Amino acid sequence: MNFKVIIARWIHQILHHTELMTENMRSPKTMGLAWVARTLMNYSNAQVSIDIVNRMKLKKADHVLELGVGNGLAIKEIAKISRNKIIGVEISAEFRRNLLKMRLPKNIVILENDAKDLSNEIPDGSIDKLLAINVIYFLKPIEKYILEFKRILKKEGIGYLGCKFESIKNFDIEVAPNRDEREIISHLSNVGFKVSSEFIDLGEDRSRYTFIQFEK
Ligand SMILES: C[S@@+](CC[C@H](N)C(=O)[O-])C[C@H]1O[C@@H](n2cnc3c(N)ncnc32)[C@H](O)[C@@H]1O
Repeated sequence: MNFKVIIARWIHQILHHTELMTENMRSPKTMGLAWVARTLMNYSNAQVSIDIVNRMKLKKADHVLELGVGNGLAIKEIAKISRNKIIGVEISAEFRRNLLKMRLPKNIVILENDAKDLSNEIPDGSIDKLLAINVIYFLKPIEKYILEFKRILKKEGIGYLGCKFESIKNFDIEVAPNRDEREIISHLSNVGFKVSSEFIDLGEDRSRYTFIQFEK
């Protein structure tokens, strides 16, 4: 763990339950706290992002969408396989600025939409695989986003969620209301998705997560 991560963890430990810190973990924007959030996400989510993309069993021709691209950890892995257009949806201007600086592969397109309505950009039934890592907690109302997932996925298209329920259990509840695995699964099942979930332990605190898969 490098010095930057130690400082970021220390600040986060003091402020993690506050609305402001949770807001920044959802979508970094406050000077200083945005740096804490981005540093922690990079440190905590690299291994998980690689693991989840492996589990997606992508094919070259898959049309993939990632919601909440953040530091770009997972979308870079997706681009190693998918040759089709890859769509990243990222509501945070701060993250979008950084992604632009990263010179991502040319088949990646980053949209600035709120994922609850992608109808101006993404046709019905056009996505093979949808990924969202550490995002579902923040989506309000969750039902609306899940309906949008259903609209954009192809028949038999699959969505994947990576969730660290243990790490976010003290986040501000107004900002991060979706923290219960069973409730999230029930929202997905209610609209007709076939859902399964598995707890994955890659050996470190930061790399334990719940992998939820839902098929249209
Ligand atoms: C906790 S970060 C996770 C980032 C990355 N997936 C990771 O695991 O490191 C949540 C991400 O979702 C994005 N986000 C949150 N709500 C969103 C929404 N309604 N529409 C699009 N992006 C959203 C945030 O800007 C942020 O990039």
